[in-house]
Amino acid sequence: MKVIPNCTLDDIRKAAQALKNEHLVAFPTETVYGLGADAVNAKAVSRIYSVKSRPKDHPLIVHISSLIQLHRWAIDVPGYAIKLAKDFWPGPMTLILKRSKFAKDFITGGQDSVALRVPDHLIALDLLTEFEKLGGFGIAAPSANRFGAVSPTTAEAVVDELGEFLSEDELILNGGPCSIGIESTIIDCTTKIPRILRPGAITAEMIETTTGYKIPLSSKNIKVRASGSLGSHYSPSANVVIGTTAQPGDGFIAMENIPTPTGGIRLASPSSINQYARLFYSALREGDRIKLGKIVVFQPHGEGLAEAIRNRLEKAANKKQI
Ligand code: TXA
Ligand code: MG
Repeated sequence: MKVIPNCTLDDIRKAAQALKNEHLVAFPTETVYGLGADAVNAKAVSRIYSVKSRPKDHPLIVHISSLIQLHRWAIDVPGYAIKLAKDFWPGPMTLILKRSKFAKDFITGGQDSVALRVPDHLIALDLLTEFEKLGGFGIAAPSANRFGAVSPTTAEAVVDELGEFLSEDELILNGGPCSIGIESTIIDCTTKIPRILRPGAITAEMIETTTGYKIPLSSKNIKVRASGSLGSHYSPSANVVIGTTAQPGDGFIAMENIPTPTGGIRLASPSSINQYARLFYSALREGDRIKLGKIVVFQPHGEGLAEAIRNRLEKAANKKQI
């Protein structure tokens, strides 16, 4: 495995060629780092599953360079999905659409739908464009972590998660810390009205404004085969507890205006919700690095991105109870 700092266009071309040669390339996006493979190559995609230790029936997001590519992968696309794509791509939004013949079972987990996203990151977009120049159609990429673990928001975190499992021809493109820090909003567009399957930076309010439909705020009761919708996910080794006070020796994450309880070990002090999202996963990782047994997290209040953070927090905190 090779980590590429300060990616040049030449580096990105080599990475696109590596993808063509059935190797994996981890790359930055604005949300979290992805572990990419050629989305039409069964052998390349199967490496994602073995490197991540991910169950085979969990579908993958296909990353594409622009809205133009959507029609290759999806059919019967509703008008509201096109509106969403026009407003929010490139951006932190994944659309679930009825799949075309192009989206094979090894991408969709055998489901009749496919997940598509245009990421808003220069390295990711250049990689997609260069890959297309080599005849590629899209890059399948889950978050670049072991199954169930915390998504990586830096290249160093990708090395920690997957470095030992990647082969010598496989690459990690270092684009620095991700600007959003939690995964994309997933919107099911296979029904009459869009539904949020995983909250993220594209909020219910934004979707309502674009589509004119009223979106249910909570996605809690929706049963879909999305790994992010399993009870336990995004978990560090430490026990994550949603709380209001920490004991001496516990890790502690809260907005900066909340003082650290006596003896608590402060892992992050965000001053805004955006910064909370950006720091959250790296703070959980830091707790593991310094071998804390427990991390107490103060939930952020409010809607939108705060709701997405609470969603991830609940899943991280679920680990020890199931
Ligand atoms: O921000 C993101 O979305 C990042 C970056 C790398 O793009 N990717 C990401 O991928 O979070 P992953 O695989 O860790 O999470 C994608 C989620 C999974 O929970 C998967 O089950 C769900 O999307 N998914 C994919 N295809 C689906 C489908 N056809 N129907 C329902 N859920 C789907
Ligand atoms: Mg993931």
